[in-house]
Amino acid sequence: MCAPIRSLTVMAVILALFSSGLSQAKQPTPEERAYKFRTSLFQTFAWKLGQLAQAKGRDDQSAFTQHAKDLVYLSTMTDEGFSIENSIPEGSKAKPEIWQDSDGFSDKAANLKALSEGLLESQAMADFDPRKFGSKACGSCHREYKVKD
Ligand code: HEC
Repeated sequence: MCAPIRSLTVMAVILALFSSGLSQAKQPTPEERAYKFRTSLFQTFAWKLGQLAQAKGRDDQSAFTQHAKDLVYLSTMTDEGFSIENSIPEGSKAKPEIWQDSDGFSDKAANLKALSEGLLESQAMADFDPRKFGSKACGSCHREYKVKD
């Protein structure tokens, strides 16, 4: 390696160390981590809903069943995203009612799990309508516990 490139490499290493030091200075708070976790989870729900619709479009029963199973499993993590009381960092659309009425909120999470389990029944793919499912399983919670976009 010639000298200028070597010194560039050294510079890059120093910069990387320096910037990792900087990012350590602003580590996310536990509330921000919880918010990130649940946001990723909800985006994964939305992805799975899309995959279910696509599997139905292809008449692919085994993919439909797999995505339904994934959604059942993922839905069990909903409460975990809200385990820190009143974690409403900047950008969050969570309503304080989530913690004021935590039983009601958990019921909505359980409702998503039950409806997702319903997708494993025979005939479920034929009857599946992503909009109706989304309204019953997702919107029913959003209407009460999520700030409107
Ligand atoms: C038990 C309640 C509940 C259920 C069930 C639920 N959500 Fe949500 N969802 C929320 C709350 C609360 C937020 C706002 C969280 C925040 O901003 O801190 C949210 C946020 C979202 C977001 C926005 C994420 C982002 O990028 O900011 C999407 C997308 C979403 N949900 C999709 C879904 C889908 C799809 C389903 C159904 C398969 C679903 N949700 C089921 C409560 C729920």
